[in-house]
Amino acid sequence: MSWDEKLLKQAKKIIKLYPQKRSALGTLLHLAQSKDGYISDDSISVISDLVGITEVQVKSVSTFYSMYKQEPTGKYLLSVCKSISCEINNSSEVINKLQEFTGLNNNETDEDGLFTFEAVECIGACGGAPAMQVNYETVEGLTAENAINLCSWLKEKQPDIVVADDMQKDFGGVKSFDWAIKDNSGATSNAPGFQTLKTTKAKK
Ligand code: FES
Repeated sequence: MSWDEKLLKQAKKIIKLYPQKRSALGTLLHLAQSKDGYISDDSISVISDLVGITEVQVKSVSTFYSMYKQEPTGKYLLSVCKSISCEINNSSEVINKLQEFTGLNNNETDEDGLFTFEAVECIGACGGAPAMQVNYETVEGLTAENAINLCSWLKEKQPDIVVADDMQKDFGGVKSFDWAIKDNSGATSNAPGFQTLKTTKAKK
């Protein structure tokens, strides 16, 4: 096994939360992704041993869900919604301009490992369409110009934590609705955020 002791300890703690080992599969895949930014063959093998199912079974789950990445992802995963509410509010222009800015086609990562671009299905912010996410932190009410400004800012500042509320304030437009609780956590990596997996963190 090539996961270090700390990660294995965390994995075993997760497994204990479930009545059957194999039920921890999804969370362990998230753990693997938080380690490498994608699901490596090595992680497939480790998880297979940990939960007692075959590598093919682990792989079949990891390739079914699009949030599990099969290749290394850039520091910033740019996910622009292409579904209907966003489409009728000009998401295609946001997509085209961002692809032009980054030089990336769908699901590609740039050579510097800074951006990965993807056009995705609904991200649950239809009332604030068009919307996108940076490392799963959502920004609503975008214009193509503001999307480019957001990416220029990421490129220049390269923040280690991106926070939805901050990006919304600086680059967003009309939101679906105002959240009752301010979101002060932010994404610390390009893996989906779970505080127990340390992929989100309170902002200082
Ligand atoms: S259609 Fe774009 S967020 Fe729902």
